[in-house]
Amino acid sequence: MGKITVTVIKADVGGFVGHSSVHEELLATAREQLAKSPLLVDFHVTHVGDDINLIMTHRQGVDSEEIHKLAWDTFVACTEVAKKLKLYGAGQDLLADAFSGNVKGLGPGIAEMEFFERTSEPIIVFAADKTEPGAWNLPLYKMFADPFNTIGLVIDPKMHEGFKFEVLDLLENKKIIFNTPEDLYDLLVFIGAPGRYCIKSVYTKAGEIAATSSTQRLNLMAGRYIGKDDPVLIVRCQSGLPAVGEALEPFARPHLVSGWMRGSHSGPLMPVSVADATPSRFDGPPRVIALGFQLADGKLIGPQDFFADKAYDRAREMALMIADYMRSLGPFEPHRLHLEEMEYTTLPLVLEKLKDRFVKA
Ligand code: F6R
Ligand code: MG
Ligand code: MG
Repeated sequence: MGKITVTVIKADVGGFVGHSSVHEELLATAREQLAKSPLLVDFHVTHVGDDINLIMTHRQGVDSEEIHKLAWDTFVACTEVAKKLKLYGAGQDLLADAFSGNVKGLGPGIAEMEFFERTSEPIIVFAADKTEPGAWNLPLYKMFADPFNTIGLVIDPKMHEGFKFEVLDLLENKKIIFNTPEDLYDLLVFIGAPGRYCIKSVYTKAGEIAATSSTQRLNLMAGRYIGKDDPVLIVRCQSGLPAVGEALEPFARPHLVSGWMRGSHSGPLMPVSVADATPSRFDGPPRVIALGFQLADGKLIGPQDFFADKAYDRAREMALMIADYMRSLGPFEPHRLHLEEMEYTTLPLVLEKLKDRFVKA
């Protein structure tokens, strides 16, 4: 059998209630739409916060116009339902009036990879809400380059050579490949600044795809930042790739990500089950889910809702403690993001109003 493609496409086409979750009718509509397609080998529909995630397998390869159109049409159908129920922000991520060949740049986020299915092919689909693609930088670094996280890098002969990281400069729309461990320090110079430099994909040294994210160029309009894109990530596991537990381990210590309330705050990324993927406090804190599947000739056997596990209770506790602390800073940085990174700003307005009151110091 030929190669299989795993495509994950996500969009927020209406929140229930506010920006907190997705109404069951939208998920049912998405399932109905995908079930009609003769192109899919299999699919699974889920959500994190107000984002619908379409997890699909097929044999059309990456960047397939048909598959992208299927996702687009599915989100259009969900938007109709969202409008009927007067859900919040119906159709908000469908930025274009009509589909034109590829969903990239049209609003929905996308991660996809094509490969020959191994004898056993465990994959994890991560999806997050109230944050941005740079949120995957730290966990991907830990999974594929940090021996304190991934002991396989040290003691598994199949992993000992290291990996290749493809990093995008979102501002200049350029990409670069770093080899680890050789380029480790150079890599960190960039990915430590996740608002600008994001890991797009990770490959084995032999060039096999291991992980890919929904990182795309920045949402800029007339030079102004118009929004964070809640990201997804696909990771292949085991047999020379990080073990499932090594891929999940970075989320045991919640890191600070950009997003949260009005896409303008820094807060902890809290690992949760799908049932708990409903941001509430201050529209957050930001959430991440992890769904595991075994592929069987492209069929998605699963999901296993990994962060439902009790082993993540302490991570949630820690995230909530960090959330308390960050919230105590109110409108001050570093809880509030730097001026250039905020999704909402009144700065030009207030500057204009006060322009005559500013005098030379
Ligand atoms: C952040 C998010 C929410 C909204 C906030 C205000 O990604 O989705 O925090 O930014 O609820 O939303 P509006 O401006 O739609 O009232
Ligand atoms: Mg929303
Ligand atoms: Mg969202």
